[in-house]
Amino acid sequence: MTKKQEKDYAQYFQAPSLKEAKSRGKEEIHVLYDSGIPDDMKRFGEGKTYLLQTYGCQMNEHDSETIAGLLEAMGYEATDDRRSADVILLNTCAIRENAEDKVFGELGHLKTLKREHPNLVLGVCGCMSQEESVVNKITKKYGFVDLIFGTHNIHRLPHLLKDATFSKEMVVEVWSKEGDIVENLPKKREGMRAWVNIMYGCDKFCTYCIVPYTRGKERSRLPEDVIAEIRDIARQGFTEITLLGQNVNAYGKDFEGREYTFADLLADVQKIDIPRVRFTTSHPRDFDDHLIAVLAERGNMVEHIHLPVQSGSSEILKQMGRKYSREHYLQLVRKIKTAIPDVVLTTDIIVGFPGETEEQFAETLSLYDEVEFASAFTFIYSPREGTPAAGMQDDVPVEVKKERLNRLNEFVSKYSLKDNQRYADQIIEVLVEGVSKTNEQMLSGRSRTNKLIHFAGNASLTGKLVQVKVTGVQTFLLKGELVASDHHNYQEV
Ligand code: SAH
Ligand code: SF4
Ligand code: F3S
Repeated sequence: MTKKQEKDYAQYFQAPSLKEAKSRGKEEIHVLYDSGIPDDMKRFGEGKTYLLQTYGCQMNEHDSETIAGLLEAMGYEATDDRRSADVILLNTCAIRENAEDKVFGELGHLKTLKREHPNLVLGVCGCMSQEESVVNKITKKYGFVDLIFGTHNIHRLPHLLKDATFSKEMVVEVWSKEGDIVENLPKKREGMRAWVNIMYGCDKFCTYCIVPYTRGKERSRLPEDVIAEIRDIARQGFTEITLLGQNVNAYGKDFEGREYTFADLLADVQKIDIPRVRFTTSHPRDFDDHLIAVLAERGNMVEHIHLPVQSGSSEILKQMGRKYSREHYLQLVRKIKTAIPDVVLTTDIIVGFPGETEEQFAETLSLYDEVEFASAFTFIYSPREGTPAAGMQDDVPVEVKKERLNRLNEFVSKYSLKDNQRYADQIIEVLVEGVSKTNEQMLSGRSRTNKLIHFAGNASLTGKLVQVKVTGVQTFLLKGELVASDHHNYQEV
């Protein structure tokens, strides 16, 4: 390499450091209003195609919309055919080991493709690329990868892609620390539901969780930017938005000299003409009375709250660093149910956290009995390198963990059915998502509380809000019929 080449290469070999990612500095976060595409790259992708594979949470799904937006603004077109794609990007998730295994499995498959199509640009981004161990493993064992970029580097994609296209070396750019908030990046949104970031990062540092390391410190977007984006989405005809953040209740806490909370934001969003507003995820610790009061006014705020509890044992919650107790959680649930009696509560639960005893697990089951969650995402604890829990003695045998997961999942099914039974014979508002994937004769849609419902109807209803009478109740599905009087009108539209 010449000196200049060495310098260029160094510029694009920035690997992550978990230690640096962990520190929470006082650096001020700036908001940049940037369209992201330099003029000389606006036609860079013309005549070329891309394939983007997304793993993980809604945050990642939404990042993929930005990545697709950037690629299309450069002229690339989407394709499903991996054999003909010019660019393949894997937007990865690091939350549990099996999420990472899937990506490494996929890279194994792509090795052959890359050999057959040497001009293919193969990239890895998302939360895994923020992990030191992953970047080391890819550089050592998956040398055919062309590009690695981090969650804080998405707006740099046009530059990185150009470099990866021309460079023989692997281009690695992962900033360990979050950078500024970049507004106005292009986004490719589809369907009738839109995601809107209200904040980035997480400062909670639950002891088992990798997210604060992969997503940086908590930073809120300015309310005026969020509101402007939602107004624009409403104008484009979207029916539903989901406000996104790892811990939405912390929204606004980082504003200096400005008192504006998540409840204030929701109150402002309530005034916008968009039929349904959801948000995820709420942390039980910061769920205050003002927020409950705003939600109780309903309007476009749906009666569904996803409120991860993680465990029913105060001792385990303490070990997890969740900063609330079983009693606090149950009290919060009582308050919410008093204010919104028909609320649907869903949750996340981890079983087999280091040291979890049978009695402590039984407390999770009894909490489930008490709250009667409508649904839950349940996980076996997975140690994540660099997190405090990874250093705790993980003495619960894997068989016991699996058995606990099965027992818990029986509760999930039982209470899902019970919750669905509340809807028997009721008429509910349904947002039609399209023809059912399992039965072509049926339409599929969601209630305000996110219940899946199938009913007979014309595909032209897709994207509309209709009234449906619930005629059948199953564990994870409702069945219904379009309400007759409205049916006629809908058919005409
Ligand atoms: N910010 C959200 C959660 C994001 S991660 C919140 O705090 O609620 C989604 C879920 O993954 C978590 O709620 C947790 O239940 C699970 N999870 C996170 N880290 C995990 C780990 N190391 N092992 C198993 N499950 C984990
Ligand atoms: Fe992870 Fe806890 Fe932050 Fe959620 S609140 S992302 S579980 S550290
Ligand atoms: Fe996974 Fe990152 Fe989301 S670790 S769950 S994609 S924030």
